[in-house]
Amino acid sequence: MNVLGIETSCDETSAAVFAAAGGSGRLLSNVVASQVDLHARYGGVVPELASRRHLERLGPVVDEALEGAQLALDAIDAIAVTCGPGLVGALAVGVAAAKATALALGRPLIGVNHLEGHVYASLLEHPDVPLPALVLLVSGSHTDLILMTERGRYEVLGATRDDAAGEAFDKAARALGLGYPGGPAIDRAAARGQAGAVRLPRPFPDERSLDFSFSGLKTAVLRALAKHEREGGTPDPAWVADAAASFQEALVGVLVDKTVRAAHVRRVRAVLLGGGVAANSRLRRRMGEAAQALGIPVYVPSPILCTDNAGMIAAAGAHRLARHERSSLRLGAYAELDLTDRVPETGVDVEP
Ligand code: KG4
Ligand code: ZN
Repeated sequence: MNVLGIETSCDETSAAVFAAAGGSGRLLSNVVASQVDLHARYGGVVPELASRRHLERLGPVVDEALEGAQLALDAIDAIAVTCGPGLVGALAVGVAAAKATALALGRPLIGVNHLEGHVYASLLEHPDVPLPALVLLVSGSHTDLILMTERGRYEVLGATRDDAAGEAFDKAARALGLGYPGGPAIDRAAARGQAGAVRLPRPFPDERSLDFSFSGLKTAVLRALAKHEREGGTPDPAWVADAAASFQEALVGVLVDKTVRAAHVRRVRAVLLGGGVAANSRLRRRMGEAAQALGIPVYVPSPILCTDNAGMIAAAGAHRLARHERSSLRLGAYAELDLTDRVPETGVDVEP
């Protein structure tokens, strides 16, 4: 079954074709058109501009995905689309296109929770992940520790109380003058710096809680910068690299520690990483080392599958379709959706 995936929840316009077979499958194409150039000068995503760019780019991106898969549109058996959470105007572009395509082709439609998409970025490459597994989902808007007892069944064990991990990266990068998007910029700068050279607190290391809190860390970066300047220093590239490395180490350290603790307490058989921050080189390395100590495998998606892409949406959709789940043509765009929420207008064999 060929599933066309569509993703427009934030600032990547993406389409993919996933050839589902049994419980697994493979990606035939996964096209991501980034809008980074459009938003960079504003230092963050401008929702109105994002929606308009999705509108312009989605058609050509879908064509490119079909071309990459060497399939004509009528060889598509189902359409999977991100319907939330995300920017509502941006989501609406993808949902409208998916509904129109499903209606025109007479094929089933499935609305996909973007967060479940990030979980499938790992499952897509490793369909035989042993369960129960622990998922660390770290994106621009989420920092969640999730227990997955079976596919599609999740329990949130911990979450951020303020800024998400990706948001903290983006804000710290802005404070350090490293630009947007901040995560990759800090990752690169940190490679030239020394962790610990700039003293920063460990963010919310409380051992009794699996929640996270990162807003204090961002403030600490700003304070360190002000102190450095007061003492006559300049935020030259060497100091910025040290600050970036120190920030990254503090944030990654707490992510790894809490994941290890949760994995231990809940006796999981594997750890999965997902979301844009899972592309972070330090997190990938430290989580790998930690898993060795735990004696269980860690699955980290390839970097292209960590950040937003339609491949993971098509894979998550294919799994729900295989369980006979369908969305009706009343499917909407939902700004707020938790991983454990039922996707609205969706059920087993819902009538259009
Ligand atoms: O999953 P994603 O593409 O979009 C959301 O669903 O939010 O995540 C985007 C976030 C941004 O905050 C970005 O700065 C961060 O992921 N990110 C990274 C890296 N690449 C992307 N953070 C740290 N290191 C990276 N290499
Ligand atoms: Zn995402």
